[in-house]
Amino acid sequence: MFTKLENQIHFHYGSSSLIFEILEDGQIGFLYFGEKLPADTDLRNHQLRGMHALSPVRDLESLLSHKNARLCYAPEGHGDYSTPAFRLKHEDGSPIFDLRFQGLRRFDGSAKLSELPSLYASDTEAETLVLEFEDKQHGVGLELYFSLFSQLPLLASHSRFYRRAGQNEAERIRLCSASSLCLDLNDADYELVRFHGAWGRERYPQTQALHYGVQSLASRSGTSSAEALPALILKRPSTDEFQGLAYGASLLWSGSHCCGVDVSETRRSRLFLGLHPDQIEIELCPGAKFETPEAIFAYSNTGLNGLSSVFHRFYFQHLISPRYRKQLRPILLNNWEATYFDFNEEKLLDIARRAKQAGIELFVLDDGWFGERNDDRRSLGDWQVNYAKLPNGLDGLAKKIVDLGLDFGLWIEPEMVNPDSELYRQHPDYVLADPRYSASLGRYQLVLDFSRVEVVDAIYEQLHNCFKSLPLHYVKWDMNRYFSEAYSQGGVDIEATCRRQGRLYYDYVRGVYSLYEKLQTAFPDILFESCSSGGARYDLGLFHYAPQAWCSDNSDARARLEIQTGSSYFLPPAALGAHVSAAPNHQLGRNCPLRTRAYVAFFGAFGYELDLSQLSDEDLNLIRELNDFYTEKRALFQLGQFERIILPFGNAAAAFMVWNEERSEAALLYYQKEIHCNTAPHMLRLENLSPTDLNRYRIHLHSTGEKLGEYPAQYLRSVGLLIPEPEIYRAGPDDAALLFLIERIA
Ligand code: GLA
Repeated sequence: MFTKLENQIHFHYGSSSLIFEILEDGQIGFLYFGEKLPADTDLRNHQLRGMHALSPVRDLESLLSHKNARLCYAPEGHGDYSTPAFRLKHEDGSPIFDLRFQGLRRFDGSAKLSELPSLYASDTEAETLVLEFEDKQHGVGLELYFSLFSQLPLLASHSRFYRRAGQNEAERIRLCSASSLCLDLNDADYELVRFHGAWGRERYPQTQALHYGVQSLASRSGTSSAEALPALILKRPSTDEFQGLAYGASLLWSGSHCCGVDVSETRRSRLFLGLHPDQIEIELCPGAKFETPEAIFAYSNTGLNGLSSVFHRFYFQHLISPRYRKQLRPILLNNWEATYFDFNEEKLLDIARRAKQAGIELFVLDDGWFGERNDDRRSLGDWQVNYAKLPNGLDGLAKKIVDLGLDFGLWIEPEMVNPDSELYRQHPDYVLADPRYSASLGRYQLVLDFSRVEVVDAIYEQLHNCFKSLPLHYVKWDMNRYFSEAYSQGGVDIEATCRRQGRLYYDYVRGVYSLYEKLQTAFPDILFESCSSGGARYDLGLFHYAPQAWCSDNSDARARLEIQTGSSYFLPPAALGAHVSAAPNHQLGRNCPLRTRAYVAFFGAFGYELDLSQLSDEDLNLIRELNDFYTEKRALFQLGQFERIILPFGNAAAAFMVWNEERSEAALLYYQKEIHCNTAPHMLRLENLSPTDLNRYRIHLHSTGEKLGEYPAQYLRSVGLLIPEPEIYRAGPDDAALLFLIERIA
């Protein structure tokens, strides 16, 4: 429902309310987003007004000052000194525009962006409000889109700038920054949770009380990056995993970004998420428009697990293609850590045969199958099979794999080229590089200029030719380096070339999305998994196309506890590629028991990444047994509701669990990192059970099948499950994992 009360714009839909105020100077103030309020709620006088020292006023009668008001999508230049939502520039350098509110419109469903990923929501699942602004003098307009959802407490937002044709056409106007979401919260009594990382240790939450000034996490790498997740959480200091108010925001964007909060001296907290402001300069030509990516903003009154549950449901209901909502993901085996580049058809078929016997369903051929690729120094860009390794071609190998009863999957890295490749020799200008200077290599490779349509088309042609001859069920799309000398070559004239540079970071990502769309249109049955040196591109934009992503190149179970926990704040287990790899682990050298490795990987899109021919019969039997169990419980692990119980960061133990939709069945992982002498028995309290839950639960241990007992919910919540003595682990002493199966007693 949408109403106007005095100067307030009320948008009530589903379980949420969003309330704005039309300010005296034609700007829009932000008053409220959160749980639904009564329609007659009056938030008049909620803005700070008055003649304050050092605060220029916009309206002498009402004494409105941008410095003190809570704004929605704050413009710069009118007396507000916090981070602006956008920056426009006249030809002469003046940053002053006056985009005034003109009116609004609403429609059923969510917004459809023309060239960026849009959410899936039917007309009964969402409603959208559009606030319209214009600077009449210059014909520059802005539309702010806000969609609310019927089933989820969240808001999707993006902005669209345009310039009218036929008005001041000769003037050059540039858009120099544009957020996807920019809202002023009333106070600063929050802690900010940011997710930083690095290769092999992606998405570690870091929590800090808000302080004055800007606190942000940004990527300038051209990709969403391992170092900075394009997402953040704001929570009250007393909020924990199980209770309290929390807001979470995330971008549907796979490129550079900047997300943060700017706290002013009045303790107004400006939340902003969007494209990195240093890396765009868009010419707003007459008749042109520019869209920002979408941002998602959700709230929870039931702590961080409650917030994650909103994002996880959002992933299934509105982000990924409807075909994957209920489709269970296959157990896969990827040959990378089994063979690296050193394989031939016979070796692959031997692994595949063993995989089939072990209950694995999909065989994925990783890097090294094309060109002359026997190491990482050559052939990226040449997507034709290497007949020296695979004399029967890819189709010959794929057919044999399928004949064994396995599905076939393939690795590609389409955005890259090695200087030692046919593609580069023929088209040296296809790369991001300034030919006047030398270009930095990352893993001996250069980034292809996906901002150019002809470059995307050339890669599409090659991949289409390759895929069409194969029974292909799965593709792993990798991206193994960041931008460096980012310059787009091949411009026709100096002015056009110059314009292209300002759009480069934006158009590159659009090029990536367009290649996904072209391939998915041509091959709708392929399941895509994204990867970027492990988990360096883990944003909701890519998950829109590829419903799962390789979580990290670090597959050590103990490290994975932390990486998968950090990843779980915004994404459910089905999205997190998690494999059992060899012991000792190839990244850290740690020897985690096989059962532990599998239990941790169960809480992800499950698979293997090791040479089965190197395993003992005992291990192979255990793998078969684990796969049978996982197959039976796959819907619980992949579609269930994931909840964090003990965080692994800085703790000797960790625990998390998944519940089925009815909350009648759950699987709970308890992981003891190190054994210690003389410690009290651990009582694992399930604080995620509701205080009103009067059910009893039967619990047994997966490894031994032993029944531990039947417990009332209240007992499990308040006293806790007694973790059995270490002898029963049969897997420890260090890195001992216990999997408990929990059933509600009817
Ligand atoms: C990246 C990926 C790995 C593997 C290699 C292949 O590092 O993260 O999983 O695919 O590339 O070169």
